[in-house]
Amino acid sequence: MSYGTLLTSLENGIFTITVNRPDKLNALNKDVMNDLSSAMDEVYNNQEIRSVIITGAGPKSFVAGADIGEFIGLSANEGKALAIKGQSLFQRIEDCSKPVVASINGFALGGGCELAMSCHFRVAAENAKFGQPEVNLGLLPGYGGTQRLVQLIGKGRAMELLMTANMIDAPTALQYGLVNYVVPQEELLNKVRSILDIINTKAPLAIAGCIKAANAVWNEKLDGYETEINEFSAAFSTEDMKEGTGAFLEKRKPVFKGR
Ligand code: COA
Repeated sequence: MSYGTLLTSLENGIFTITVNRPDKLNALNKDVMNDLSSAMDEVYNNQEIRSVIITGAGPKSFVAGADIGEFIGLSANEGKALAIKGQSLFQRIEDCSKPVVASINGFALGGGCELAMSCHFRVAAENAKFGQPEVNLGLLPGYGGTQRLVQLIGKGRAMELLMTANMIDAPTALQYGLVNYVVPQEELLNKVRSILDIINTKAPLAIAGCIKAANAVWNEKLDGYETEINEFSAAFSTEDMKEGTGAFLEKRKPVFKGR
């Protein structure tokens, strides 16, 4: 499929989604949000997609936030609808059974930081900058940022970033645990691809189980330990479990089929 505001490509099972509004620093307007939602439908439905990279076009910005121009004149109810739609999209990214990694090539501010945080983990270029500057606009994060920032970097640091609107640079994000690696910009996509190339050799249903169980830590409706038991036990009835354990005992590489 093709999208008006996104570039997409599928190579070796890795689906790369590039938000493509570089002249607006890839700000998330309605069209981008709708296209991202359709692209996630594609991720959920296309069996050839094993894992996903989300990044931004150009050398300067991952995503510099929600499109501020679209906020003008919104009522409280319209603001609520916007937040519900944004949270639901980002929740679908977080809940995706296939690994989704943010490749952060510059500014990840506001909704951009929230988008990055909804991914399963993050890798940043040296020029990346992170922040939740909404209080500068008389707003606060509405796409899950207050929750995921606390989860990822702890309450004290999150509170400071939320209340000051300060940006942090890539080394600080690494120190905070917001990103897993910081690499030169020209190496960024290759670094993310090399991690996904490893993940894509593993058993897809087991990967999906890891995602579900790890996400359950913050899901009040689920008991994380019970989710782990359920996912662990379900794995025993998969062909991939027989293949993985058999291959180990036969001293050969497993070939997983996602069944
Ligand atoms: N929404 C709408 N447009 C945005 C945007 C956003 N979140 N972020 C950047 N843009 C636009 C700018 O308006 C500008 O458009 P123009 O060329 O038509 O005037 C273009 O992108 C380039 O941005 P500019 O501000 O000129 O770049 P800069 O290098 O001077 O500054 C930032 C970069 C990221 C510091 C600055 O753009 C900024 O503060 N953006 C808003 C960040 C924010 O508050 N995000 C949270 C929104 S809830």
